[in-house]
Amino acid sequence: MSFRTTPSVDYVEDVSPGSGALPPRAWYASSDARSLSLNGSWRFRLSATAGAEDDSFAEEGYDAGNWAEVTVPGHWVLQGDGAFGSPIYTNHLYPFPVDPPYVPTENPTGDHLRVFDLPSDWPSDGGAVLRFDGVESCARVWLNGTELGEFKGSRLAHEFAVGELLKPGSNVLAVRVHQWSAGSYLEDQDQWWLPGIFRDVTLLHRPSGGAGDFFVHASYDHTAGEGTLCVDSDVDGRVTVPALDIDVATGEPVTVAVRPWTAETPKLYDGVLVTDGERVPLRIGFRTVVLEDGLIKVNGKAVLFKGVNRHEWHPEHGRALDLETMREDVLLMKRHNLNAVRTSHYPPHPAFLDLCDEYGLWVIDECDLETHGFTEQDWRDNPVDDDRWTPALLDRAARMVERDKNHPSIVFWSLGNEAGTGRGLTAMAEWIHGRDPERLVHYEGDWNCRDTDVYSRMYAFHDEVEKIGQGLDGGTRKRRELPFIQCEYAHAMGNGPGGLADYQELFEKYERLQGAFVWEWIDHGVRHAELGYAYGGDFGEELHDGNFVCDGLVFPDRTPSPGLIEFKKVVEPVRIEGDGPNGIVHVTNKQDFADLSALAFEWSCQVDGETVESGSLAVPVLAPGESAEVKLPEPPVDGRGGERQWTVRALLADDTSWAAKGHVVAWGQFAVGARPLPSFPATDRPVPDGGRITLGPAGFDARTGALLSIGGVEVGATPRLDVWRAPTDNDDGAEWQTDTRYGTLWRTLGLHRMRHRLISVEAGDDALTVHTRVAPAAREVGLDTVYRWTSDGERLRLTVSVTPQGDWTVPLPRLGVRFGLAEADRVEWFGGGPGEAYPDTGKASMVGRWQSTVDGLQTPYVRPQENGARADVRWVELGGLRIEGDPEFWFTARRWTTEQLDAARHRTDLAAGDTVWVNLDHGQHGIGSQSCGPGPLPQYFLKAEPAEFSFVFSTTR
Ligand code: GAL
Repeated sequence: MSFRTTPSVDYVEDVSPGSGALPPRAWYASSDARSLSLNGSWRFRLSATAGAEDDSFAEEGYDAGNWAEVTVPGHWVLQGDGAFGSPIYTNHLYPFPVDPPYVPTENPTGDHLRVFDLPSDWPSDGGAVLRFDGVESCARVWLNGTELGEFKGSRLAHEFAVGELLKPGSNVLAVRVHQWSAGSYLEDQDQWWLPGIFRDVTLLHRPSGGAGDFFVHASYDHTAGEGTLCVDSDVDGRVTVPALDIDVATGEPVTVAVRPWTAETPKLYDGVLVTDGERVPLRIGFRTVVLEDGLIKVNGKAVLFKGVNRHEWHPEHGRALDLETMREDVLLMKRHNLNAVRTSHYPPHPAFLDLCDEYGLWVIDECDLETHGFTEQDWRDNPVDDDRWTPALLDRAARMVERDKNHPSIVFWSLGNEAGTGRGLTAMAEWIHGRDPERLVHYEGDWNCRDTDVYSRMYAFHDEVEKIGQGLDGGTRKRRELPFIQCEYAHAMGNGPGGLADYQELFEKYERLQGAFVWEWIDHGVRHAELGYAYGGDFGEELHDGNFVCDGLVFPDRTPSPGLIEFKKVVEPVRIEGDGPNGIVHVTNKQDFADLSALAFEWSCQVDGETVESGSLAVPVLAPGESAEVKLPEPPVDGRGGERQWTVRALLADDTSWAAKGHVVAWGQFAVGARPLPSFPATDRPVPDGGRITLGPAGFDARTGALLSIGGVEVGATPRLDVWRAPTDNDDGAEWQTDTRYGTLWRTLGLHRMRHRLISVEAGDDALTVHTRVAPAAREVGLDTVYRWTSDGERLRLTVSVTPQGDWTVPLPRLGVRFGLAEADRVEWFGGGPGEAYPDTGKASMVGRWQSTVDGLQTPYVRPQENGARADVRWVELGGLRIEGDPEFWFTARRWTTEQLDAARHRTDLAAGDTVWVNLDHGQHGIGSQSCGPGPLPQYFLKAEPAEFSFVFSTTR
């Protein structure tokens, strides 16, 4: 065996997909053929450039004893405590000069070495293949000193025939991985750049007479209730499905009565493909996907996607996910009423697709392709419109389709993401349509829909979506005849997304709108010793896009964020509405396929938020789309005249594979009558006493009118007007939205530095009145603010009247009062909960009696920002005070000021002070999803308008 001393690295910048690998085929686990996982600890050596080291390390007998070690699957930049470089985050900018197909000379290159023993009972017949499920971005492979080839296509499987090279006993597998390659130009997805062997490496025995590639075609005829199965196989054999009494030859179709597969009813039949030398288990789901009458239909019915975009992410392991993490994603999705997932922006680990088949999720499987950075040069030199790159594109398309074609959950193949338009994409679509006419093709980047079977967009605003629903959007003839989905909408960055319910209303109203996929599933925060979770810039990247990488419905540790709780409510499979005074519930089955037999219904009646009676509710087993009216029992009589309301819940009647019996799937609440407002006779008069004024239980500073204490409770800072909130990512908006980025506009106006000018303090007959003007330096706008304090002897009422002055051209962030409490921890309230809610994110806020602690009220957004408001609060108790609202209010409490929250970059910047800051808000501005989409709809604007609101304070000690 001879080796070059100066290795050629030309293949790194070669636009071809590579050489030496086997043609792609279906990914399956054999029942009987042996396999050997090569995951685990590998020897590792990092070089700064692609050609720094010769390839002698691949030789047998090479001593790598002084090399470091890394875990495979894994990314080297997330191992070695920084010794192996660090992650880089960019959204669409290439972190290297756009000079295709060339990449920088500085090209971190990881040599990986694994010596493994071939088990002594490894069969001697047949052959063997070595499979790599994912390597970023370019790998060159040797086994026992012989070069097998090199490949690109990071999130796609590559196999090499190695039967001839395997030896009994010790074998040496050497893999050289380059961070940058020509392939990097095709992998410009918005995520961390993370080199490494990040998915499994497996040695597979291929018995003689074993199965090769095969394609399971399992369709469903909804008119006949029959499924047709035909398994095309490279190697002839038989297919058996015991439950269906099927035993046919490969290539031979058979039609029998079956239960179809849908995401709601994921019926899988176990089968076996038997060839001379092998048995391969099959999980067969019968379903037919078509485009018919301008609609995406499965098994004859139009479907509505309630979807999410899922990147693979783990806060410590990056895109190297274990099975349990994948299952956790699927279970969380099912438990939150999602029914669809787009595998943005690459085919996931194949085990994830098995889980989608098993638990039931519609899948858009997306190819590993994005060239977004070329937008910076108006798409000039875009590889998808350059024939030299077309073989690489076709290779990627084939590797996706061939690997994943046997998953019933996949209904769409997606060509990729944000790659502009071009001949290469058309070639991919043509090839896919030819290879698999039984599925549809998706791609968002071409609004003319030249190559696609659906009109897909991202972040279209509500009004445009409505126009599209009405068919008034124009476009090419082909597009006008296609159904519409939003492959991305509702950007879940930080606090939000707002406006989900408004979108859902449109999707349910117009047939052409077949749903959408929230951007995105998980925050890609990297666990970090000092910062908690790191985001772009935290590793000193010269180019980065900050916390734009943290825009998920779950936090990096997969705790659901309020956005996911809201989404669950908005996309409930059952709508429960009611006519409270007449005790009637309207129940609608909003599913596409399943009836309501899996659900049980319960009613309960609350008085002042506390459940006083409950029982089960008999709801007919409605078919999809059907509604029923059900009568509730007589509401309990409440002698105290409290506020009465109904709550009706739909729960799982039995355990399912994804949640236990009793799991709440949907709910509705409706009032029996209006809330009785607190009555308050102002009986006491303010009594001056030296420098103080006493009014009922309260003491004030006579000069400033500041409240000092109520009963025994010290008020650290008097309640005074507050309009500032720590701008959310959605308040700040995306950089391309110039005129509505309120975070910036508010700051420019100075709403974060309002001054309070005392005009007068007046102790009258029955009230202490403090008159102020609240305004920012350098501006003419202001808020004339009057605080009117009264008492009934035991309690204290504050009425705040606000009159805007000047020309207010922006909405207010919030409108209410803020004050400080010296001591507070436990919090109890009657109002919306248990989680936070803002005007356009409040559907999941359930009115009831809730308890928490001040710390428990905080929502841990990776980049700190306004959070934690509880909506529709009637009263709250904390720190020895009870505060009742007239009308209901928003309530926020935290151990730091809004200004400190605003200044913090990471949660670890927030330190608890000795005051608990409480905000009682009459209004909040909506949230929207302007970090990449529309801002709040006009009805959620908090306009600067005259307002009056009251709070009644008493002590609980
Ligand atoms: C889209 C893109 C996603 C992500 C998102 C913003 O344009 O497809 O990958 O970047 O915007 O978070």
